[in-house]
This record gives sequence, C-alpha cells and structure tokens, in this order.
Amino acid sequence: MIARTLSFSIAAAGIALSSFIAAPHAQAAELNVYSYRQAFLIDPLVKAFEKETGTKVNIVFSKKGLLQRLQSEGMNSPADVVLTADVSQIAQFEKENLLQPIKSAELEKNVPSQYRAPNGMWTGLTMRARAVYASKTRVKPGELTSYEDLAKPHMKGRVCTRSGKHPYNVTLTASIIAAKGEAAAEEWARGLKANLARKPQGNDRAQVKAIKEGECDVSLGNSYYFGKMITNEKKPEQKEWAASVNIIFPNQADRGTHVNVSTGAITKASKQPELAAKFLAFLSSNEAQTIYSSANFEYPLKAGIKMDPLVASWGKFKADDRNLADVVAAQTAATKLMDKVAFDQ
Ligand SMILES: [Fe+2]
Repeated sequence: MIARTLSFSIAAAGIALSSFIAAPHAQAAELNVYSYRQAFLIDPLVKAFEKETGTKVNIVFSKKGLLQRLQSEGMNSPADVVLTADVSQIAQFEKENLLQPIKSAELEKNVPSQYRAPNGMWTGLTMRARAVYASKTRVKPGELTSYEDLAKPHMKGRVCTRSGKHPYNVTLTASIIAAKGEAAAEEWARGLKANLARKPQGNDRAQVKAIKEGECDVSLGNSYYFGKMITNEKKPEQKEWAASVNIIFPNQADRGTHVNVSTGAITKASKQPELAAKFLAFLSSNEAQTIYSSANFEYPLKAGIKMDPLVASWGKFKADDRNLADVVAAQTAATKLMDKVAFDQ
C-alpha cells in the first residue's frame, strides 16, 4: 500500500513541475520519476508504460538540481526513479549514495553488460557516440580515423571543440585514461589543445557551424546532433552546417568509438523498487527502445531493434566495449587533467 503526500519546494528554481499529485486511491500503483531527460523524449514512453501496466507515472523534469533535491529530501523523497542524460550524471547520484541496486533479469538480458554498472546501481538505456565531424571538402578520406589523430601535427590549427571541462569531453578523456593511462591521455590532451583553431567555446553544434564557415576542419560532437541538425526545420541554417560535414566514428581499427549512454536508476528512498525496476525494464523493451532511441537520433542498446533510418544511414560502427563504470572511475582524473593542461585557456 502506497499512499503519499507529495510536497514540493517550488522555490527550487528551474524545476519544471509536471504532474505530481497525491494518489487518489491508496491502492493505485504510482511511480515517481525525477528526470534530467526532456519531456519530449520521456512522455511517449511513460504513456506506453501507463497503458501497458495501469501504473500512473508522475515526473519532475529538470535540467539541473535533481541531485540536490534528492539529497535534501533524504529517505522521505517521493522519487522512485532517476533518469539522466549521461553516465557522468548518474555517477554523481551513486557517489552520493542516493541509489539502490536494480534487480531485473529482463534488463540484464536486454542491456549489454558494458552499459550497466557492475554493482547494479544504474543501467544504460540509449547510446550515442562521441563522433568526429569532418569537412567534406577539406578533410581527405583516411586523414583522420582516431581520437589520437586529432592530436597529431597534421591537424594543427584545424580542430574545434567545446570546453574540455564539459562532461562530454571529460568522459571522452576518461575513456582515454581507462584505455591508455594518464600519461598518454595527458599527451593527447596537450596535442589536441595545440591543434585548436580557436579557444574552446560554444556547444557541439557550434563547432559544425565553424567548420561550415571555414574556421576549422574537424570537431568533436555527439552523434545525435547530426540528426538534430539535418532535420532542424526551425533553424534551417543548421541543415547547411550538417551538409558541410561527414560524421566519422573514430578508432575502428582498435578499441572502438567512445560512447556514452542515457541512464536510469532506482533511488535509495524508493519503497517500491520492484515497480521501479519494472519501469526501467520496460524502457529496455522492444517497444520502448524503438521510441526512445529514434526520438533523439540515438542508438538502441537492445540487440535487434530497428534503428531510425537516418541514424542507420550513418553506417555501423564498433563501440568501445569497456564497461562505462571503468570510464566513470577515471572521471575525476580526467577533470584534473583538463585543468592541468589548461585546456580551455
Ligand atoms: Fe547533448
């Protein structure tokens, strides 16, 4: 029996309240979700889950502050599930001891083990590659095939990227530490910095714009932005940016392309971990994986799911199959390393 009175600190700035309301009947199954992932991605999945199970799902969407909120609520938190946009976000929840292990045979069957925490504290739900965008006209085929190439002398003055301290780049750096050690990763970061056409700035899409405008020849960017730019009817100039580049999946000849995942986890405070696990398992199901991955031009994690046709058109690639928990473990070292080489200066 779960009867809860949900209360909110409206003062918690930036938190968009959705539909948290007290349970009308104590018996009605309800699940409460805190989500860093946006409503347009999650709403269709929640509707499908509600329809299939009769469970009501209440969601708080926010771009930030959910960890602090969960901390301050402690074991009285109404939240059962946390959804994050990437693995570094969920790692912070784990570090702050805010999660409990997920027990779901279905999830273990659907999601390959390298995309789940070995201790069961979180699971990946969708995947994206940290790709390289390369000018169609100024980068010759084969000229750049690895992250290491970005740091080599032939790329001098030709590379654009966002801040080295942005989680996307920190996690990439952490993957290099995990694969090759700190000394090699530092050498790479110094080489990459030396090759930059301009100081790190803007987001991943802004780098593709800079390629289109001739400021640089290559950039680092998450794969889904390619799809989001190509299909951007509201800002059609982004279609032109995207049309000026090819997407490259680095390191196909060795460890594979660095990937990151959106994640789900069960809060330590949840009094209904079975229902929470059922929801996460649903997100790994055929139906949900198809919706979830294609809505944001990401890759499904479950094998055999039909990919979005646009994403499929970029071709198959080999992903780095190191467990993402090992990459996360190198995150602090990666942040320090980016400071040490003064990457953004
Ligand atoms: Fe992003």
